[in-house]
Amino acid sequence: MISYDVIEHGKPLQRVVKDTPKPQGSEVLVRVTRSGVCHSDLHIWDGYFDLGGGKKFYVKDRGCVPPFTLGHEPFGVVEALGSGAKGVAVGQKKLVYPWIGCGTCAMCKAEQDNYCLQQRFLGVFRPGSYATHLVVPDAKYLVDADDVEEGFAATLACSGLTVYSAIRKLPALTARDWVVVLGCGGLGLIALSTLRALGFERVIACDVDESKFAAAKAAGARETVNSHDLPTALGHLHQVSGAAVAGALDFVGMPATFNLGTAALAKGGRYVLVGLFGGEVTFSLPPIAQRAIAIMGSYVGTLQELREVVALARAEGIALAVEPSLQAVERIARSMPAQLSSTAQDLARRKPSEIDHLNGFIARRGRELGVAVPVNQTLAALVKLVEAGYERGE
Ligand SMILES: NC(=O)c1ccc[n+]([C@@H]2O[C@H](COP(=O)([O-])OP(=O)(O)OC[C@H]3O[C@@H](n4cnc5c(N)ncnc54)[C@H](O)[C@@H]3O)[C@@H](O)[C@H]2O)c1
Ligand SMILES: [Zn+2]
Ligand SMILES: [Zn+2]
Repeated sequence: MISYDVIEHGKPLQRVVKDTPKPQGSEVLVRVTRSGVCHSDLHIWDGYFDLGGGKKFYVKDRGCVPPFTLGHEPFGVVEALGSGAKGVAVGQKKLVYPWIGCGTCAMCKAEQDNYCLQQRFLGVFRPGSYATHLVVPDAKYLVDADDVEEGFAATLACSGLTVYSAIRKLPALTARDWVVVLGCGGLGLIALSTLRALGFERVIACDVDESKFAAAKAAGARETVNSHDLPTALGHLHQVSGAAVAGALDFVGMPATFNLGTAALAKGGRYVLVGLFGGEVTFSLPPIAQRAIAIMGSYVGTLQELREVVALARAEGIALAVEPSLQAVERIARSMPAQLSSTAQDLARRKPSEIDHLNGFIARRGRELGVAVPVNQTLAALVKLVEAGYERGE
């Protein structure tokens, strides 16, 4: 096999020819046909994350010591199976979930490998996809992505997944709320299209590079704001949103974007930090309480979230994973009007994450039926849709 390895941090990658590994036990050998490139690769290649004030977090201190193979957005074909590998066949095309943990702790058992303390992340702690071949510890980390263009599918393993997980951390949005996306690079652009696919349309994209704005608009930003100067940018955000920014997603992660994102929030709003450009900030405490804002981080995502984001991509913007359940609910509601209230009760018992998905579907159904439905108010929206369907005799 051939890989392009980091031999020394910050120096060009080197082509290395080595023996193709033979998968053992539950392992699966994947021949890589596509590999995304993420800005995190650049941070790891540099060898450190900037903690601000001259402090650095060196990746070698966490076991990421050259030589190693980067690449955590792999897509490929199953080429060989270990003797204990199950649920997959040679020749199948698969997207690889790279955020793999120890496999045995409570987090991993709950498929939250990304929170495991003994990470085996591919392309970070294990050889990644800047190579012809890649070993995946277990077939359960292989995800079907049929019908999604393979090059795009690869990027879902980090960019798409990270963005989706961050969006799910936003507060429940009402029709008057706005979301600000900071940074229109790889992650920011996918965030814009994902927000649109989920039915959130009041989105403002910020970047310091205006050449990104055409792509941002095409991906779904209603407005774009140059965030070079904080007071000017903040004024624009308040003006465009009517001071109703409920969520800020930061795909840059430096003091300038932290300061803008947190300052732009309306009371009760949430700032989600994803970007790792780095630095440090000093922040006054009382306003966090007085404005009741939340500041939280988001780090890649779970295996289940990857499946959901693939379903979203497959349906060109709609979360198929839950569409059937809502269709079933709709069918029941249509055939038995008297049951509408119990349908509503059933929805009320659902987890917030399921409600998020339903909202994406409801937004589309609303467009199909020509009904203005309140975004993120699932129960009221569902009732409106069902009523509109009746009126049209559907
Ligand atoms: N938390 C996670 O799980 C996670 C996952 C993947 C990537 N990341 C990190 O997210 C960041 C973005 O990754 P990417 O692949 O999208 O990078 P990218 O290089 O494609 O995009 C970065 C964008 O930020 C813009 N930018 C730079 N400074 C800015 C500023 N002051 N204000 C506004 N915009 C600014 C750039 O012009 C560019 O458009 C990286 O730091 C990456 O390591 C984090
Ligand atoms: Zn990444
Ligand atoms: Zn674990």
